[in-house]
Amino acid sequence: MLTFSDFDSRGYPTVDVRTGYAGWAATYENTVEDVMDLALLDALTAPDWSAVHRAADLGCGTGRTGVWLREHGVPHVDGVDLTPEMLTVARERGVHDRLVEGEATSTGLEGDTYQLVIASLVDEHLPDLGAFYSEASRLATQDARFVVVSYHPQFIISTGMPTHFTDDSGESFTIATHLHLVSDHVTAALEAGWALEEMREGVIDDRWIAAKPKWAKHRNLPISAAYVWKTSH
Ligand SMILES: C[S@@+](CC[C@H](N)C(=O)[O-])C[C@H]1O[C@@H](n2cnc3c(N)ncnc32)[C@H](O)[C@@H]1O
Repeated sequence: MLTFSDFDSRGYPTVDVRTGYAGWAATYENTVEDVMDLALLDALTAPDWSAVHRAADLGCGTGRTGVWLREHGVPHVDGVDLTPEMLTVARERGVHDRLVEGEATSTGLEGDTYQLVIASLVDEHLPDLGAFYSEASRLATQDARFVVVSYHPQFIISTGMPTHFTDDSGESFTIATHLHLVSDHVTAALEAGWALEEMREGVIDDRWIAAKPKWAKHRNLPISAAYVWKTSH
């Protein structure tokens, strides 16, 4: 298993997930780029979003993914997140039926309930992908899909850039980042009974460089990945 610290090029102080996202919640929406995750969701040909009655949004944050799901025909979305400050923003947004403060790997949500489980930009904060894929499997109905959008390991390795934020005083912090290879995802997903239906990768392209001109040096480097898993039983 690879360790992020072996690649860290920034050397920011590291904070845990709750501390980090509590500090980032107020500015999170201004800094995260839709091309990172929502553009990948747009590119997927599966699942049939409008066929989903109820979705579980793991690591729902401020509700960006929930808004996207509702706009694509999913009528009911339940969200789980570890960080109360992120949930406060999501609550104000009002797109989720339920918002629960909890762990993505042990949500406490009812099992065998969701035609879609989704986790966008969350797994790099999880030390254990096995528990993550197993919990999604427990929540899923038969013939459900699990959509995972990830910060791409190749970008983390090549740039040494952790998930990070800058606070009001201008100091930057790493939010504890775990490095999971694509094969780590595949292995954990297969063990939890998932089969891969579709995968897309997002690279640094003109959209990215328009938003972040300094990233021209990263052109064509994969930065995000979307996996669509389906139940294999
Ligand atoms: C980068 S944000 C993504 C939020 C949202 N899915 C989006 O795409 O905008 C990561 C979120 O995952 C949450 N998170 C990280 N680790 C978690 C865990 N173990 N259980 C639940 N939530 C977690 C954080 O609190 C944060 O809100």
